[in-house]
Amino acid sequence: MHAQPLFLENAAVERTEYSPAPAEKIRGIVMQWANAKSVKVSLGLPEYDDRNDQWRVSLLAPHNGQDPVGEVWIKEDQIVFSSDLRLIEKRIGKTSKSPPHKVGTEISFRPIPSRLILGDARDVLEEYPPGTAQLIFTSPPYFNAKPECFECQDYEGYLDFLREIFEGCYHVLSEGRFLVVNTSPVLMKRPHRNALSKRLPVPYDLHGILTKLGFDFIDDIIWEKPEGAGWNIGRGRRFAADRQPLQYKAVSVTENVMVYRKATDKLIDWNLRNHPNPDAVKNSLIEGEYEKTNIWKIHPAHHKAHPAVFPELLAERVIRYYSFAGDLVLDPFAGTGTTGRVAGKLDRRFIMIEKDPDYFAIQTDNPDLMMHRPQVCDYEYFAGTIL
Ligand SMILES: C[S@@+](CC[C@H](N)C(=O)[O-])C[C@H]1O[C@@H](n2cnc3c(N)ncnc32)[C@H](O)[C@@H]1O
Repeated sequence: MHAQPLFLENAAVERTEYSPAPAEKIRGIVMQWANAKSVKVSLGLPEYDDRNDQWRVSLLAPHNGQDPVGEVWIKEDQIVFSSDLRLIEKRIGKTSKSPPHKVGTEISFRPIPSRLILGDARDVLEEYPPGTAQLIFTSPPYFNAKPECFECQDYEGYLDFLREIFEGCYHVLSEGRFLVVNTSPVLMKRPHRNALSKRLPVPYDLHGILTKLGFDFIDDIIWEKPEGAGWNIGRGRRFAADRQPLQYKAVSVTENVMVYRKATDKLIDWNLRNHPNPDAVKNSLIEGEYEKTNIWKIHPAHHKAHPAVFPELLAERVIRYYSFAGDLVLDPFAGTGTTGRVAGKLDRRFIMIEKDPDYFAIQTDNPDLMMHRPQVCDYEYFAGTIL
């Protein structure tokens, strides 16, 4: 019998009203400081440094508002550090002679339409130009879930397959934008009772692959399911009966949601300022309640015809926190198209790639996905189209 879920959705979320006041107050303090010193700078968006419990505001060259020339740190409304004023002035002098900044060269906002593509993501991703997608959110097929991943003979082969896919993801992602990957360690079935059981550390092995490809690690979010969710796998039953030390095995009720950013030397502030549509930035503020910690309590989802869907609520959080309205959200392992349904609902465009015709048909049969009028094509057709 399944245990009752131990939490209600969102139960741990602190409910606070969205208030932009702190950042504005911080800007006011820095502006006052700059005016008193007669330093002609404009200000970057204040960033909160939670490790040191202080705010950091970059000072920008005023003639183009792009080049950081210094920084000010604020703790409890007091300036606790500022870059050397002589250096700031020198840098302002230098940057005003430099050629005008190229704005947003890598961010492609061509109106690439939403698409559902039947095909192998390794082929499809190659067809898109760099900077096509502004967010990638995906959950790869499980290593041991055949025939989902039938071509992988062994775990090394599986990791090579993922490396190829994420190389394609790196290529299509805009500079400084986010890749969010949902995986979890995989328990291998024992061939017989006397064989050792093996648990494959997929998120940790994938982490090495992603950072080598050039993704910067940003966050490790834990998706926590209710306690009953893991018991049916059988892990931990032996210990529950015998209570012998060394036999202890934790029942797994979590999955990893790892967050990476395509490598760049630019601050996130740069992505915000260089967005070609400032209204989209304004309209995408996350108002009301939001997750404050890296533990997200969400019930798992089930689909009668697909064994491994993720919940809409997970996709909703990721898409709201890591993209703007109008952005293009891509899922190279689209399955039933959960990412696309939620992206469309949140006014984002989407590209869903799925290689299994039966799973692809779930997408094209789904009115909640099709209401966003995606183009539907298979790889052969798609490879011949002009983007
Ligand atoms: C874990 S499922 C994703 C489910 C999805 N998140 C959802 O909510 O429906 C992984 C999917 O990747 C698909 N897949 C596996 N290899 C693929 C490839 N090379 N290209 C595209 N899709 C692939 C599988 O058929 C499977 O539907």
